[in-house]
Amino acid sequence: MKILFLGDIVAKSGREAVVRMLPDLKIRYGADFTIVNGENAAHGKGITVKIYRALKAAGADVITLGNHAFSKREIIEKLPECPDLVRPANMEPQDAGQTFVIRTCGKHRIAVINVVGELLMDGSTESPFTAADKLLQQIDADIIFCDLHAETTSEKEIFLRLFADRMTAVIGTHTHVQTADEKIYRGCAFMTDAGMCGAADSILGRDAEEVIARTVRGEKTHYTPAEGDAMICGCLITVDDETSRAVGIERIRLTAGD
Ligand SMILES: [Fe+2]
Ligand SMILES: [Fe+2]
Repeated sequence: MKILFLGDIVAKSGREAVVRMLPDLKIRYGADFTIVNGENAAHGKGITVKIYRALKAAGADVITLGNHAFSKREIIEKLPECPDLVRPANMEPQDAGQTFVIRTCGKHRIAVINVVGELLMDGSTESPFTAADKLLQQIDADIIFCDLHAETTSEKEIFLRLFADRMTAVIGTHTHVQTADEKIYRGCAFMTDAGMCGAADSILGRDAEEVIARTVRGEKTHYTPAEGDAMICGCLITVDDETSRAVGIERIRLTAGD
């Protein structure tokens, strides 16, 4: 079976591109199951129930999040209306939403989990290693897909080595920059970061001039997402139907015109 994953969807540019292109991408890549990260879908921070529904209607089976999961606070009370939304297991508020979902795809039971890193990040309640270990004790599934939402390459490689034998895929998100290190490690598909779905001419999806004004000149600015054509970044994972282990991973990076 094939699992299509798309990295952090950033604001209107990324959202509209994913909603428009996902039905065709699923056919093009022969995806049996599709997971997307929606932590930046609502104006660069968070997600709304309306966006959740638009991503579902476009063909996402499960939507993962990250450190911006609850930046739009209204999503918290709407979580019961979002059965296919997974929140990071190790951040506040701990009692909101689901830390894993299990879905059936063909003859497989696939679990999707989401944890945030600790290194160079704020807000985690415990290490991703402890959080993932606790999740694994609760989950009974053939395939476990982990969206590892973390900043540093080293933390993600450590995570892979700790969990490769118990997961089918560990795919990094959060940096918004795709890495070229996709690999199969002991039957587990891995890449440090899937990259983002957002405006191609931007700094990590944000308006470049604004980021420069803030960083270089110390000006107070908003969190304005960039506009314009989006790039679509992610990966396609091939899973052996008999063993439920990963046998292939392919980087996906599409820009306007692809
Ligand atoms: Fe992000
Ligand atoms: Fe993030």
